[in-house]
Amino acid sequence: MSILDEKFEEFQAGSIEERIKCFKQDGRLFDMIVSQQLDRKILNDIYDITNQLRTISKSKSGSIFIQSLLCHKRAMLYFTQPSSRTFLSFESACHMLGMRTSEIRDSRVSSEIKGESFDDSLRTYSSYTDLIIMRNDMENSAERAAWLLNTWSNRCIPVVNGGSGSDQHPTQAILDIYTLQKSFASQGGLDGKTVLMCGDLRRGRTVRSLSYLIKNFEDIRLIYTAPQSFQMKGDVCEFLEKNNIPFIVETESIDNVISEADAIYMTRIQDEYDLVKGESGKVDISRFTIGLPEMKKVKPNGIIMHPFPRRNEIDVAVDSDPRAMYWRQERNGMWTRAALIAYIFNVHNEILNF
Ligand code: NCD
Repeated sequence: MSILDEKFEEFQAGSIEERIKCFKQDGRLFDMIVSQQLDRKILNDIYDITNQLRTISKSKSGSIFIQSLLCHKRAMLYFTQPSSRTFLSFESACHMLGMRTSEIRDSRVSSEIKGESFDDSLRTYSSYTDLIIMRNDMENSAERAAWLLNTWSNRCIPVVNGGSGSDQHPTQAILDIYTLQKSFASQGGLDGKTVLMCGDLRRGRTVRSLSYLIKNFEDIRLIYTAPQSFQMKGDVCEFLEKNNIPFIVETESIDNVISEADAIYMTRIQDEYDLVKGESGKVDISRFTIGLPEMKKVKPNGIIMHPFPRRNEIDVAVDSDPRAMYWRQERNGMWTRAALIAYIFNVHNEILNF
């Protein structure tokens, strides 16, 4: 165990409230690592910036203005786990703001294959860039990267978590809440709504990060719908209990609860994390899918979401239903991620005052 491993272990032994202090600078959000860093004020600010970006970028002069904001900055996309949406939306967001990007998408083509440590690789990447956006199959990878650069390195640049193993995916949660707020705009927003999450809740980082963010809203009720072996883990349930967020657990069938929900958030089975190959395939998930018969029970103002990729949790026949929100949700990712980057680099007031 290196001294860095020891120090990081000490850091991780602290409470989440203590740890997230490390991801702030000058009292502002610096690294985006876990959902617990976000409060309603930051979320509202990011969504105001998102809306303004969408408006401004409709014109050529507006787009050129946005591109000028961070044209002196570079970003690195360090994604060693498969990604389509998160990678492309972050890359598009960086380019929208004028940033140049570089990438590593496979650790086999980096010096990690020669035995370089994660820490040394990270410090190396930070030498050439002003922002690292990363996805990795290790649960604490983004936290380690941010901690390392903030405490151990002389080049301290922000780190954004684009998915850390089966733990968290906070920028997905940011875009999910944006989608929820927008979809329910004429019904008072997300406050007071019932959100059903279905699928692999145990290993799905999107539903975990989204559950943590729900704390920032009033009178939300959660319904966790999954076979027992895919149910939400104790850490998230304890967080909900501590914050007085009511949730119920349904293990039989989505049919039993679907009509109660305002938002239905479907997810795929995360079988890449199977400890024994093929174990997920043995669980019957046939009663945890949505097709046209289930849609008949969904509230007329309800919405269907999915972080994607989907397998067959949602029948493609549902796509043409106006309550299917997932394609818009996907596109919202680019705008909210651009807003988050502008916020981290403190250029958002120029966008808001345009
Ligand atoms: C998710 C992920 O990678 O966690 N996808 C995404 O980022 N939109 C969900 C998944 O892979 O199932």
